[in-house]
Parts: sequence; structure tokens; C-alpha cells
Amino acid sequence: MNKAFYLETFGCQMNVVDSEQIVDLLEGIGYAQVDAADKADLVLLNTCSVRDKAERKVYGHLGRFKPIKDQKPELIIGVGGCVAQQEGEQMLEKVSYLDLVFGTHNIHRLPELVQQVEEKRQRGAVTNFLERETRLNLFPERTSKDSVTRFVTVMQGCDNFCSYCIVPHVRGREISRPSQDIIAEVTALVGEGACEITLLGQNVNSYGIKDADELTFAQLLHQVNSIAGLQRLRFATSHPKDLTDELIDCFADLDKLCQHIHLPLQSGSDRILKLMNRGYTASDYLKKVERLKKKCSQIRLTSDIIVGFPNETEKDFEATLDLVKQVGYADAFTFLYSPRVETAAAKMQDHQSGVQKQQRFERLLEVQHEISAAIWQKDDGQMLSVLVEGESKQAQGQLFGRTTSNRIVNFTGSSALIGQVVPVKIVKVHRNSHLGELVEP
Ligand code: 5AD
Ligand code: SF4
Repeated sequence: MNKAFYLETFGCQMNVVDSEQIVDLLEGIGYAQVDAADKADLVLLNTCSVRDKAERKVYGHLGRFKPIKDQKPELIIGVGGCVAQQEGEQMLEKVSYLDLVFGTHNIHRLPELVQQVEEKRQRGAVTNFLERETRLNLFPERTSKDSVTRFVTVMQGCDNFCSYCIVPHVRGREISRPSQDIIAEVTALVGEGACEITLLGQNVNSYGIKDADELTFAQLLHQVNSIAGLQRLRFATSHPKDLTDELIDCFADLDKLCQHIHLPLQSGSDRILKLMNRGYTASDYLKKVERLKKKCSQIRLTSDIIVGFPNETEKDFEATLDLVKQVGYADAFTFLYSPRVETAAAKMQDHQSGVQKQQRFERLLEVQHEISAAIWQKDDGQMLSVLVEGESKQAQGQLFGRTTSNRIVNFTGSSALIGQVVPVKIVKVHRNSHLGELVEP
């Protein structure tokens, strides 16, 4: 009989891709995936530590598995991802019913860890960082997954050390994957039916920078754009300091590149940007945005913004509000600053009150909501091209897809349209999605 595993994934798209590898590895040793922990022989959490709240969630979730293990002592419980990388063996000490911990460079060792618990009830933690060559050799073979949109990792890790960010500490140094491997993987996924590919990395704009003979990221986009059968191309995430003119020009030159860029601002104050070690000023950022808009008039921008960085003043915060208004983001993820161990910002003195931070956070949200509503309202009554991704979970007979600007559109249609780009007239603009009507040919 097959053994069963249950996997929960938190955090960013990197973790989602890592979880695909976890599924493949576990299926390779005879496990089948199930949708509830109480049906499983093995329970895994793939974790995120980017903010304190995400990290605390891990312990909360582990607690939910304890009663199941009390009932079924042979249940194996494991933790992977960024919290596992950060805490390592300590987690086994803190959580007595936890069996295994595997870090961000050690996913390939999961089968061995599971088998050790199965055979000898031996608990284990592996969290060592690996050298570049070893990591490159460990890029997994991707198995087919029935999906219109797929993610392909082009680089891993980060060298930027933004002062608030834990990612370089838990994901290690930047490595870029050889371009021929990326092109081969995209070609294979398109051959299996993928229509849209998102090239993925912590900072895709620095792709290839460390390797003298490698393509630039813009050159890589050109090559991927020319793969036959591919319909749409996206990338994430971009660091503004590494967004070159050559890359911006791709939005004018490449027919498959979608009209959307996620370009995290973090702050609009030059003083805070410097303390954050971001490597650009507000005016550098705005110049790039202007060029993007000039090259692609329909482009929609999205962003990440942190409120309450140590000693942010009212003037700093207003500079952020000002920039947010000038850029006009279609959407922005806003975060309250959360000190992270090992980071430079965690050692900075901070005299702001929690109430002050919260109030600023709410002011920013309000401004951003107004801007988002006004931008998405422009789509009302328009006919937009929608790549159909699947059947909507909201209403029977409804499909969902996305516009090139990355907006979800729900509309009524036949599931035979999945995987096609179809014209849809927008009839209602909701807070987070559009409602549309299929335009029959
Ligand atoms: N506190 C709050 N937000 C953070 N982010 C990263 N680290 C922190 C932190 N310590 C946000 C940044 C980043 C996004 C993924 O998470 O805005 O772009
Ligand atoms: Fe973190 Fe900065 Fe690297 Fe993004 S670029 S992962 S914010 S250190």
C-alpha cells in the first residue's frame, strides 16, 4: 500500500517551486500526496521567515500536528524552507515531536532523512550551504504538471543584503543557472502544454552578472521569447538598481513579454533607502519608471513597501506616499517592518511607537487602495486578452484567467478554452479581480 504525505507551503514563489521538487522526491520513494494531515504518514511544512509573523505561524502549525501524532506515534513530521535553514537542529530540541529538518540547499536529501526515520526512528537535521557547482548540479528534473502557467527558476539566492532582509542569510549567495538549461526547460514545459512561463529568482535582474560568458537577463528574455508555442512570458522579482535600459527595452521589443512589472520600492525616502542598503535613490527609481512607461504605455506596476523601518520620520513616510502617488501602482504589498535576526537593521535603534507605525501603515493602505481602484477602473468596458488558466472556484461554469497586466478575470465559458488567449469584455471591476464576458468571434 502507498504511504501518504501531506505538504503545506508558506511564503514566496521560490517555496512553491521547491515544494514541486519535494512532491517529486517523495513520490519517488513511494509516497502519494493527500489533502489532510490526519490522512498522512508524513507531514511536511515548507516555511517562510521573511517576517516574524510568518515564522511564528510555523510553530502554531506544528502544534496542530501534535494530537495527530499522539494518536499515531509512527507519523513523521518534518520542516523545510527558510525557518528550517535559520534554526536547524535547534528546532528538534524545541519541538519534541518533530522528526526532521531540511534547509534550503538540502531538499535533495529529504528521501534519505525520511528513510532514516522510517527504518531507525532516527531524527535528523541538514542545513549546510552548498558550493555553487554542487548546487547547479542539483537542479531537479521537472516532471510534468497539468498547468497553463509554470515557473522556471533562473537564479537562486541573493547577494544584496538589504539591511532588513533575512533572505541572503537563509538562501545563500546568488547563483545563475546556465541559460541553455533554462531554455531547454522552458521548451520542454511548453511542449507539455504550458502557455505562460514566469522566470523566477530573488533578483532576476542580476542574472548572469557573476558569469563572464553568460547572457544578460535581457538577452535571456529575447531567447525565451523566441521559443515556439510559448504564448506569454513574465519575470519576478526585479531589483530597481539592476533594472537596465536593455531590460526595460524588452517591454517594447518582445511580443510575449506581459505588460506588468513587480518593482519593489520599499521606501520613497533617500535617507531610509540608504539605511536599507537598497542602492538607488527615489529619483533613480522614478527615472526607470518613466522609461518603462515610455517604452510600454500600458504597463502596470506593482510594488513592495515597508512602513516603520527603524526611525522612519513623518518626512520619510511622506516621501514614500509621494512616490507611491507619482508612480501610480496598480497594486502594492505593504508590510510593517519586522526585525529579523542576523540582519543589520535589527541592530538599529528605533524610537517610534507601535501606534505611530500602525497609523502610517493604514494611511498608506488607504492611499494605495484609492490609486488601485482608479487604475483598475480604467479597464471597465474594455475588451482585454485573457489567458484562460482554469475553472473558477467561485461559481459553477465560470472560468478564470489573467490579463497581460496580471489581473484576474472571471467569466462564463467552456473549459475547452483553458490554455487559450481569448477576448473578454470587462463588465465589473471588483477589489481584486474583474468580472468579464467572453466576446464570441
Ligand atoms: N520586515 C518587513 N517586510 C519585509 N520584507 C522583507 N523583509 C522584511 C522585514 N524584515 C518585505 C520586502 C520584500 C518582501 C518580499 O517582503 O518588502 O520585498
Ligand atoms: Fe531581500 Fe534585498 Fe535580496 Fe530582495 S534584494 S531578497 S529584499 S536582500
